[in-house]
Amino acid sequence: MYNDNPTLDKLKQLDEQKQGEVFELSEADFYDPNYKYFYIESYGCQMNFSDSEIVASILAESGYRPTRQMELSDLILINTCSIREKAEETVRKRLRVFDKVKRNKPGTMVGVLGCMAERLKKKWLEEEKLVDLVVGPDAYRDLPNLLNEVEGGDKGINVILSREETYADISPLRLDSNGVSAFISIMRGCDNMCSFCVVPFTRGRERSRNAFSILAEANDLFERGYREVTLLGQNVDSYKWENPESGESVNFAMLLEMVAKVDPDLRVRFSTSHPKDITDEVLHKMAAYENICKYIHLPVQSGNSRILELMNRTYDRQWYLERIDAIYRIIPDCAVSSDIIAGFCSETEEEHQDTLSMIPLANYSMSYMFFYSERPGTLAARKYPDDIPTEVKKRRLQEIIDIQTQVSFKHNQADIGKVFKVLIEGDSRKSTDDFKGRNSQNKMIVFPKQSPYKTGDYVQVRVTDATSATLIGELVS
Ligand code: 5AD
Ligand code: SF4
Repeated sequence: MYNDNPTLDKLKQLDEQKQGEVFELSEADFYDPNYKYFYIESYGCQMNFSDSEIVASILAESGYRPTRQMELSDLILINTCSIREKAEETVRKRLRVFDKVKRNKPGTMVGVLGCMAERLKKKWLEEEKLVDLVVGPDAYRDLPNLLNEVEGGDKGINVILSREETYADISPLRLDSNGVSAFISIMRGCDNMCSFCVVPFTRGRERSRNAFSILAEANDLFERGYREVTLLGQNVDSYKWENPESGESVNFAMLLEMVAKVDPDLRVRFSTSHPKDITDEVLHKMAAYENICKYIHLPVQSGNSRILELMNRTYDRQWYLERIDAIYRIIPDCAVSSDIIAGFCSETEEEHQDTLSMIPLANYSMSYMFFYSERPGTLAARKYPDDIPTEVKKRRLQEIIDIQTQVSFKHNQADIGKVFKVLIEGDSRKSTDDFKGRNSQNKMIVFPKQSPYKTGDYVQVRVTDATSATLIGELVS
């Protein structure tokens, strides 16, 4: 219990004992009894982390301040992910931990936000009794009202999905920020209906945010010293916003260019691209602007056309390989990464081999790799038996990981001797004598510190060594 005005030193000490990332200790961690405090943990995709910053902003307006000390807080929130069963299990475990805190400090409110909130709705409140508040991804504006209801002795629930909500006017409160890189959410929801994916059900229909509000957010971040923004959406290539005044419409290539023009020193990244939608226009804009990073996350999911059809990805192996060719033709120094699912319904060994062969063909710099996890309510759950035994799924996944590790190692080894422009993000994880930063291709490079360089500076770094995960380098004067 930290309700006796703990000093910053005390908090720092406690902070060092803590495992896991929440957010940076700041002024907000001075306990001031005039404020209420919230603690938030985020799981899942970057969009969830970005949403937590919107939630933080809404709570700040209602007189709440963020804290890293869950035991100190009046409100404990968990922003949840439903994409795989494992993510949901993690949340359940965390809720038991929060419940203990709550028993030590009666009155503490516990809330479930995000995708799982939407999926499980009333079950949390009625059956689990662990939570007071359940708020879906489109209902965060309602948080102040819901909190009032909870304080009045009721439960607070709003999981209504919207066709319009983009939180365009809300300026996110940056949590866990290095002051250099920030996410900007450009759209919400997804209309694609990949058969394995729960996102269209938990996050609702796709809608694009006002381009000018995106631009204003990018400008504001740059003025506050940020040097990198990542434009976020489930499928950024289908971004489309119509200016109600002029009737003109802005597509993703146009938006990318608008943000790139904020300043040549503001790096622009984006995620996620969909192979069926990524256009040559986008690739040409990437090639034309030095500050649009030469990196595309282009999830393939499977390398086999029959499986891709079952997954309802609406492209086949040939189409995907053609897009990969276009990327390397238009942006020769581009790095491409992927998401890959092992053991989707009815996948044969030969079809799995097609996924393995895709990795060196596409020459992914890295991939996020999963085995298939059936999600209730999805098209696949309704149509196809989850018939690949877990051991087979795991073995196939391991084969995918092994090949990707080799390809990543080669990809990184090929960088030895090259000099890259690197944006310094802070101290390396292992040593305060080293900086870490990324190059345009999104590869992390670790290199010895040298004055006068500091976090947020661009430096030239020569790569001297490489593992499958990281480049090691030295500053070039
Ligand atoms: N099982 C396994 N992986 C999944 N993904 C999405 N749904 C599932 C599922 N049911 C993966 C996809 C997606 C990434 C975010 O998560 O690869 O691109
Ligand atoms: Fe899910 Fe497919 Fe939409 Fe990605 S594009 S969120 S995998 S439905």
